[in-house]
Amino acid sequence: MADPGLSFGPIAPHYDVLMADVPYDMWAGYYRLLLSQHGLDPDRVLDVACGTGSVAELLCDSGYEMTGFDLSEAMIERARAKALAKELPIEYHVADATTLDLGKTFEGAYSFFDSLNYIASLAGFRAAIERVGAHLEPGGSFVFDLNTAYAFEQRMFDQKEKRKKAKIRYEWKGEYDRETRMIRVEMEFERDGEIFHEVHVQRAHSMNEVHEALRDAGFDWVKIYDSYTLDAPAKSSDRIHVIATKS
Ligand SMILES: C[S@@+](CC[C@H](N)C(=O)[O-])C[C@H]1O[C@@H](n2cnc3c(N)ncnc32)[C@H](O)[C@@H]1O
Repeated sequence: MADPGLSFGPIAPHYDVLMADVPYDMWAGYYRLLLSQHGLDPDRVLDVACGTGSVAELLCDSGYEMTGFDLSEAMIERARAKALAKELPIEYHVADATTLDLGKTFEGAYSFFDSLNYIASLAGFRAAIERVGAHLEPGGSFVFDLNTAYAFEQRMFDQKEKRKKAKIRYEWKGEYDRETRMIRVEMEFERDGEIFHEVHVQRAHSMNEVHEALRDAGFDWVKIYDSYTLDAPAKSSDRIHVIATKS
């Protein structure tokens, strides 16, 4: 797992500005589409690694009873402030997915925006899947997305935004190790003259690892899609969505 001191700390107050163009409403719609495709209709839903809570807010607005948690205190602080300002009854916790113990169960869970890639070891990934499974009621579902090794090979993290008019400028550079399927990304940001850095580490969990982790955690039905479609993943899929249920 990436050191939480190095990732999603300094960026937290600026995260929503940085993500201003992220189509969170489409993501929430895709989540609901996947559920309905498979006849699932959870009420109480857990957002795993919720960040600043953007998807949780949209689902809360649509009537779901939402709980979210994240490893980063700074991200949860933002999420709580946003929910308070919007008068949304979302429960937030600071917690690590690999050791999660919220003392309650849910009908559904999801984790978006490659959050589970940040759990950068196979043991950690398996522990997180097991912990989420333990928080689901019989018949509960877990939907999550993952960056693929193909995305890392295509240097998806080598990005920059240097235009003067940008609210936040940044330059990211990734180093990918094909052996370990891990990428380390050095990030520099600049906003209103303030410069700050983060280091992000992700691992590309393989399809076999995903299937085995889910099976061992008691999920007995799994389907994997090329993200934001209802198609099977291709070799060139840079992101996949997984939906799994426990009976
Ligand atoms: C790219 S952000 C996505 C946040 C949010 N899901 C979104 O869609 O905006 C990844 C998030 O994963 C969280 N994270 C990383 N490792 C975690 C862990 N072991 N347990 C819980 N959260 C974790 C980070 O703190 C960060 O907020």
